[in-house]
Amino acid sequence: MSEIKKALEKARKEGKIPLKVALVEDSPKDRAEQLPSPAYSQTRSVQVDLKKLIDRKVFSILKKDEVADQYKFLMTRILNKTRPNGYNTIEIASFKEGEGKSLTSVNLAITLAKESRQTVLLVDMDLRRPSIHRILGIDLAPGLKDYFLNGTPIKEILIHPGIERLTVLPAGGRMDNSTEIMDSHRMEALILEIKTRYKDRYIIFDAPALNVCSDPLILASHVDTIALVARAGYTTTEDITFGMALLKDKNILGIILNDSGIRRGWTY
Ligand SMILES: Nc1ncnc2c1ncn2[C@@H]1O[C@H](COP(=O)(O)OP(=O)(O)O)[C@@H](O)[C@H]1O
Ligand SMILES: [Mg+2]
Repeated sequence: MSEIKKALEKARKEGKIPLKVALVEDSPKDRAEQLPSPAYSQTRSVQVDLKKLIDRKVFSILKKDEVADQYKFLMTRILNKTRPNGYNTIEIASFKEGEGKSLTSVNLAITLAKESRQTVLLVDMDLRRPSIHRILGIDLAPGLKDYFLNGTPIKEILIHPGIERLTVLPAGGRMDNSTEIMDSHRMEALILEIKTRYKDRYIIFDAPALNVCSDPLILASHVDTIALVARAGYTTTEDITFGMALLKDKNILGIILNDSGIRRGWTY
């Protein structure tokens, strides 16, 4: 049994976390054939290049695909855990950089938007290393940085990337003082506002890693629940122990095991 598997099993036995899986592998060439048609809305719109999304491993855009199916499975687990509790704000964090938070956030947000007929807002809350814009191929700004520094209204920042029912709030640029902003009343008010204004909407926050700064910990106090991403062959038992200790009083939804490889067929 691998280290990560042992750590996850142990956490599960302790009743702390329901475990979920998202598996991503290289894309076969025929994936582009089943791209959906673009969709538009009244929010500032761009049409993301759907073929490029596939190059960036955003397979959730596809109708019939083994990786997309993994995200659907993950979505079902998340819906089952959040709906009965009325949770609509979910932070996606991880133990360290590179575990796949941003890719998972994008794929999960698209899957929820497409498959659950739920409207979804994807927020790039990794204010130090924003990347949602890069994955989707949209502009970094305007974004949260403009809201916090220049008072740009949120409605001018929201962007519709041409995927039905999905809206994105980009970071707007790197912010070295992100922790100060995360801990501010304005941030608390902003999250409360989007949570209550869009009660029927799932709001997915892509956050920084737990070992980088306190932003994900502070954000965890503002959201309903937090899902952690661990990456097979990369996240260690120590990483998980460290992260779980930091989050001991937070509402953890579960751990998403990323990149475990479809053909190996790991399930939890
Ligand atoms: N399951 C996966 N399969 C293949 N590549 C992945 C997988 N998950 C993440 N990656 C790649 O690993 C890198 C880091 O992922 P990212 O989502 O940016 O991590 P994080 O946001 O946690 O720092 C990116 O290049 C991403 O495309
Ligand atoms: Mg990231």
